[in-house]
Amino acid sequence: MRQYTKKDISKEELEKILEVMRYAPSGHNAQPCEYIILKDREMIKMISDLTIQSFRSFRNLMRFRKLLKPFVSKSLYEIMDSKSTALGMEDMIQRYASGEDVIFFDAPAVILVHVPDMGGLSYVDSTIAATYGMLAAHALGIGSCWMGFAMMAATKNKKLFKTLYIPKGRLIAGIFTLGYPKNKFHRLPVRNPVKATWSIGAVS
Ligand SMILES: Cc1cc2nc3c(=O)[nH]c(=O)nc-3n(C[C@H](O)[C@H](O)[C@H](O)COP(=O)(O)O)c2cc1C
Repeated sequence: MRQYTKKDISKEELEKILEVMRYAPSGHNAQPCEYIILKDREMIKMISDLTIQSFRSFRNLMRFRKLLKPFVSKSLYEIMDSKSTALGMEDMIQRYASGEDVIFFDAPAVILVHVPDMGGLSYVDSTIAATYGMLAAHALGIGSCWMGFAMMAATKNKKLFKTLYIPKGRLIAGIFTLGYPKNKFHRLPVRNPVKATWSIGAVS
């Protein structure tokens, strides 16, 4: 959901969403997630700016992709070599420069999840909690969208950590928007057929 009405999300609604996130399961029931609720336009813009800055840096890296090929994974190289990545990124940079919020889509609220840095595992608890929050929002008639680009740019950004008082040793491991939907969806986006391998043992 990327198009929102101007209607604000009340503190009560946000608290209901956070209350559901509080019940999300976590490894060892460690409950490592902490949340920052952003409604401040300037703060949201700061994250959009650094996300667009990360696009510019990535665009520069893409110019040297042939040189970088031996040092990056095959999948990252494919992203760097893809015409659609280059065009999509350029389009977002241009639209942002002309004043369009291509990162947060003018969402009235954004929730940011931070957790202790535990390497690859860091993202599991936060992703479960954020998904709980997004489903709770849906139940309240509020739309949401995962913000992967912003999360990648923000995850360890020192300036942002300082501004948001996030302690050292933690990671921003989930960001999603919240807003009342402008449009009604009549169907889900198309999905591929399920890919599943069944190992069901001997059948009598
Ligand atoms: C991990 C993850 C990262 C995403 N990052 C972004 C993002 O940065 N910007 C955006 O507009 N949508 C983002 N999305 C939304 C996906 O594009 C969207 O979920 C997908 O197109 C499927 O649509 P649906 O969620 O409405 O079924 C992200 C989704 C996921 C799961």
